[in-house]
Amino acid sequence: MANTTMTYRRLGNSGLKVSSVSLGGWTTYGHTVEELNTVQRIIARALELGVNFFDIADVYAKGKAEELMGEALAASGAPRHHLVVSSKVFHPMSDDVNDRGLSRKHIMESIDRSLDRLGFDYLDVYFAHRYDPETPLEETVEAFSDVVRSGRAHYWGTSMWSPAQIAEAHTFAKANGLVAPITEQPEYSMLRRSRVEERVLPVTTRLGLGLVVWSPLAQGLLTGKYDDGVPEGSRFANFERFREQLLTEENAAKVRALRPIADELGVTRAQLALAWVLRQPGVSSVITGATRVEQLEENVRAATLELSPEQLERIDEVLG
Ligand SMILES: NC(=O)c1ccc[n+]([C@@H]2O[C@H](COP(=O)([O-])OP(=O)(O)OC[C@H]3O[C@@H](n4cnc5c(N)ncnc54)[C@H](OP(=O)(O)O)[C@@H]3O)[C@@H](O)[C@H]2O)c1
Repeated sequence: MANTTMTYRRLGNSGLKVSSVSLGGWTTYGHTVEELNTVQRIIARALELGVNFFDIADVYAKGKAEELMGEALAASGAPRHHLVVSSKVFHPMSDDVNDRGLSRKHIMESIDRSLDRLGFDYLDVYFAHRYDPETPLEETVEAFSDVVRSGRAHYWGTSMWSPAQIAEAHTFAKANGLVAPITEQPEYSMLRRSRVEERVLPVTTRLGLGLVVWSPLAQGLLTGKYDDGVPEGSRFANFERFREQLLTEENAAKVRALRPIADELGVTRAQLALAWVLRQPGVSSVITGATRVEQLEENVRAATLELSPEQLERIDEVLG
């Protein structure tokens, strides 16, 4: 499984190392990529190329995505110690009032159901998918700490929590001898940058949490695939809501303007966009998505692409 193209970063101040380019299954496994065979091919290739970190959530395709990812990881034959697997809890899994949120009950029941679907004895990282204003933070932190202490996950993290919520959870855990979160999972890309750069990173860097960021390609928009319209079968063809949010005139113009910078470097815009996110030392991994093996092969090459201060300045001018 050794390779020379991937790089690995510590997940914040923890001793866990994740591939700088990682792979997730949101909107793909069990949705646009339904065949187990395709999931298996993408995951097997990811492992060959040095990806060790795989991200999923209970709510993705209502459990189906965890099942497919678990089956594909098992079929790959990769030893469990080689893999860093994360899943998440928060969103409703049924109409039941308790089958949602971050109560102790839901966290304890959900980790077992995720492990069953994945076919694993433990997760590497268990994420609170969102903040739950209806559960006292103390209850949530204690439950995640107990999940870790029981051996069902090695670490826990937050996703899309505000910097104040992250800091409060961290401080409460440290002050009470509980296990503190080691990572936050926010959205971050060339087209969605200010929240992370101005608010999240200052706090997570100070507390020693590593960021693993989602939609680093703005769901594919930054690859340039939408330059001439919306290709059939693509993310924005399948999900109108995301197209409306992201495929604005302004964003499309920025993506077109990035092309000459990528061309001069001899890289693709997907690689440029991922390397740009990875320029941040506070980012441990970019969690990418792929519907085809070729996309993954293109994207992992960003792991070793370094951008010079001049190139970063030119990119900044385009992004505004
Ligand atoms: N914590 C959270 O709340 C949260 C939220 C969202 C996502 N996530 C995580 O982040 C992961 C990645 O999110 P994402 O899928 O939006 O990431 P992304 O990497 O920004 O977008 C991936 C999509 O873009 C297209 N694509 C990727 N590489 C390409 C290439 N080289 N050329 C052309 N098209 C390419 C593919 O879609 P098409 O082929 O269909 O066009 C692919 O599925 C998820 O799987 C999940 O694990 C977490």
